Parts: sequence; structure tokens; C-alpha cells
Amino acid sequence: MDREKILTVLNKALAQEHACFIRYKTHAAVITGPYVKPISEQLDEIAEDEERHARDLRDRITGLGGTPTMEVTEADLIPAVTLEEILRVNIEEEKKAIALYQEILDMIPREQRLLYETIEHILQDEQEHLEELQRLQS
Ligand SMILES: [Fe+2]
Ligand SMILES: [Fe+2]
Repeated sequence: MDREKILTVLNKALAQEHACFIRYKTHAAVITGPYVKPISEQLDEIAEDEERHARDLRDRITGLGGTPTMEVTEADLIPAVTLEEILRVNIEEEKKAIALYQEILDMIPREQRLLYETIEHILQDEQEHLEELQRLQS
């Protein structure tokens, strides 16, 4: 396993998680229309998952002797207000996150249990987020 390469890609994921947290929290705050309360709560819960992902990534990065980035991937900060826009944006973003975590998982030898399982767990969460959002699409 190329430690430097893994650290680079873990920090890329961390910067993306920072953006996901901000994006979901903002969408939860600005959403309008019917069923605002339950949908806002659902987006808020997803934001909390993204924050947990960021925390877990920081732990793995420091565990590998790296420094967790404080960067935010600006391209992932996409404003949206209506439910339709919010779902469209976040479904695309979740698909992007899933592709990145799949790519990271493929780089990690299975013997690296802690790192492998951390990424596998995050990937499962992102797949769950995608399913949740797709269920809200009419
Ligand atoms: Fe995440
Ligand atoms: Fe997610």
C-alpha cells in the first residue's frame, strides 16, 4: 500500500465531507414547500453522518501519520432551495462520493482491517443516503 497516495486520497475525501456537511446543513435550513419539517430533519441527519465520516477520516489520516486537511471542496458547495433541486444536487453528489469511496476501497489491502472497514462503512452510509434521497423523488 502506497501510504502517501492513500493519505492524498483520504484528504481529498475529507475536504469533500466538509463540503457535504455544509451543503446538507444549508439545504436543511433553506428548504421550502410541503413537508418541510420531516425533510429538513432528514437532511440534517444526513449532515450529521457526513460529519461523522469527516471525524473517522481524520482519525485514520492521523493514524497513518498524516495531517488532516481543513480544506473544503468548493465545487461540492452547490446551493439549492426547492425539494426538486435539493434532491437533484444531492443525488449527484452522493453518486460522486460513492465512486470516490469505491476507488479508495480498491486501493486498500484487506489486511488493513481498520482502514478498510472504516471506508467500507462510510461507503455503505453513502449508498444509504442515495437510496433515501431517491425515495423522496416523485
Ligand atoms: Fe460522507
Ligand atoms: Fe452522503
